[in-house]
Amino acid sequence: MNLKLIAGAMALSAALSSFAQTHVMDVNTGKKGAPIQKTMYGIFFEDINYGADGGLYGELIKNRSFEFKQNLMGWTTFGNVNVKDDGPFERCPHYVEVTYPGHDDRRSGLQNDGFGGISLKQGDSYRLSLWAKAPQGNASIQVQLIDQVTDNDPQDFVSQELKITSGEWKKYEIILKSPKNDKEASLRITLNGKEPVCLEHISLFPVNTFKNRKNGMRADLAQALADLHPGVFRFPGGCIVEGADLDSRYQWKNTIGPVENRPINENRWQYVMKNRFSPDYYQSYGLGFFEYFQLSEDIGAEPLPVLNVGMVCQFQNKEESAHVPVDELQPYIQDCLDLIEFANGDTTTTWGHKRAEMGHPAPFNLKYIAVGNEQWEDFYFKRLKPFVKAIREKYPDIKIIGTSGPSPEGESYEHGWKAMREIGADLVDEHFYSSEEWFLNNAMRYDSYSRKGPKVFAGEYACHGVGKKWNHYETSLYEAAFMTGLERNADVVHMATYAPLFAHVKMWQWRPDMIWFDNTNMFKSVSYYVQQMYSCNKGTNVLKLTMNGKPVAGQKGQDGLYATAAADNGDGSVIVKVVNTNKTAQSVSVNLKGIKGEKTAKVTTLTCNDLNAENTIEEPEKITPKESTMTCKAGKSSTVIEDEIAPMTFKVYRIKK
Ligand code: AHR
Repeated sequence: MNLKLIAGAMALSAALSSFAQTHVMDVNTGKKGAPIQKTMYGIFFEDINYGADGGLYGELIKNRSFEFKQNLMGWTTFGNVNVKDDGPFERCPHYVEVTYPGHDDRRSGLQNDGFGGISLKQGDSYRLSLWAKAPQGNASIQVQLIDQVTDNDPQDFVSQELKITSGEWKKYEIILKSPKNDKEASLRITLNGKEPVCLEHISLFPVNTFKNRKNGMRADLAQALADLHPGVFRFPGGCIVEGADLDSRYQWKNTIGPVENRPINENRWQYVMKNRFSPDYYQSYGLGFFEYFQLSEDIGAEPLPVLNVGMVCQFQNKEESAHVPVDELQPYIQDCLDLIEFANGDTTTTWGHKRAEMGHPAPFNLKYIAVGNEQWEDFYFKRLKPFVKAIREKYPDIKIIGTSGPSPEGESYEHGWKAMREIGADLVDEHFYSSEEWFLNNAMRYDSYSRKGPKVFAGEYACHGVGKKWNHYETSLYEAAFMTGLERNADVVHMATYAPLFAHVKMWQWRPDMIWFDNTNMFKSVSYYVQQMYSCNKGTNVLKLTMNGKPVAGQKGQDGLYATAAADNGDGSVIVKVVNTNKTAQSVSVNLKGIKGEKTAKVTTLTCNDLNAENTIEEPEKITPKESTMTCKAGKSSTVIEDEIAPMTFKVYRIKK
């Protein structure tokens, strides 16, 4: 035989063998397995990558209260503008005094470019609010939206006079309508006339925020969260719960009440990379705990706050002395108890009353609290104990979440789980930012977990490509494969949240991330769609799915296939999810035992033949799931899904019984 013929024969045999075997799977639809918790697929929000200020939080002005360390950071001033610190808000005392510059042909005023330019939409309305005082007599300011142009005379395209009446501090509000789209506008305020004005908390919001709330969220980003139908909403972090030091830890009590009086905090993610130091990264706390609870309610997710356990970030602080001594933890424990009262207490309680004052007399019905973010070893275990004791005593129904630390295996993880069992945590928060290989090899991870003791909360996870840390298709597909193991083990895995959630395309510290945005647009990564395909096809009970009697989890002989099945008691559907991680197509035949006759399946397919491809701000919908229908055959004693699954493809089949 000549060489060409041999090569041809080999190629043919390879092609045949890749299609030859049909993988026959069996689903027992008659016997419902473990319930799948409503909380199973959720979201985790942290203010990283400008996720809050400059992101989800609708505020368009940076440093609105003049409280950054450099008080005028974010502002350009001209003429006579001075920072003062005896303002009307005790915890945000700074403001600016704008006075006549001495000549009629000069102006005094200030300008803010937002978070890299204020994005305005033609025809949309924006609510400008500020606090002002005219100490010497009636004064006037000109409020303008201007183009950011490079010459010295930026053009205003919206200009409105605002009269400030003589006397004490007062809040003013006007609506500005943008006549055009402008991605990089600025807000400019100038003094008219000679009477000075004092200005504080200068704020600009789109009127159209999510649910049209005044202190609301950017509508497109919040809608993207709602569209995930998340079962649980973990907030506010992440490392920012701990802070770089105890002073900069997240303190929820600073984040409630009138926004004008919420003290700002530096963001721990200022420091993440030396070459990306962001000195202007602060937390305004405009998106605070009330707003988090309200957002949870708006999107139908169980709120899951994470509180500080008296510890700072252990990566940066390795000494015991960096953390709060165990006998001085009481204020931290009290913060937890007060938070539960803030969320659930009736309006006669101290903290329940504060919630009612903020506009929500009904309780938020908090069921979970996490104590500590990503802590490990004895430093953590001995601190967690008194929190658990105090919470159990006062609120026995609240489920407490502890953590097994930053690694998904190894000594600290083992110690973490052992300690969480001993301490009696209800759930253990595991974090894994791991490689492609890890994700492919860990779909069986939870099959061997003990069914007794704490349940699993996979609280932070994402597949990080080795040498390729971006949101490319391949990693998202492997997340889909891994997640078959979460669903199959729904009796032990009660919650899972991808991380991080948001990233600004020009201002990020960490990737991959689930949703990316600039000041005008957003796009959903493929990982977002994987999460959505799971959360919108969650089902209520696991159904046993096997191939040759074994779970389908990419193991030997399964040709890179991963699969799971669930029943949905709501609409009576059977849901089968199959991931083909192989670079060749795979034939599958899934026998739905307990269903008979021909049926129509709704099919959602996520596929892409370029493993490095990704969605981008320029091509936001390059890779999206597609909906179709197919006929499932009537087999001898079952309905059968017969399909050939394209290489590197995730499919969800939904069949009504
Ligand atoms: O999600 C980014 C960070 O990863 C979180 O802040 C922290 O918990 C983990 O180390």
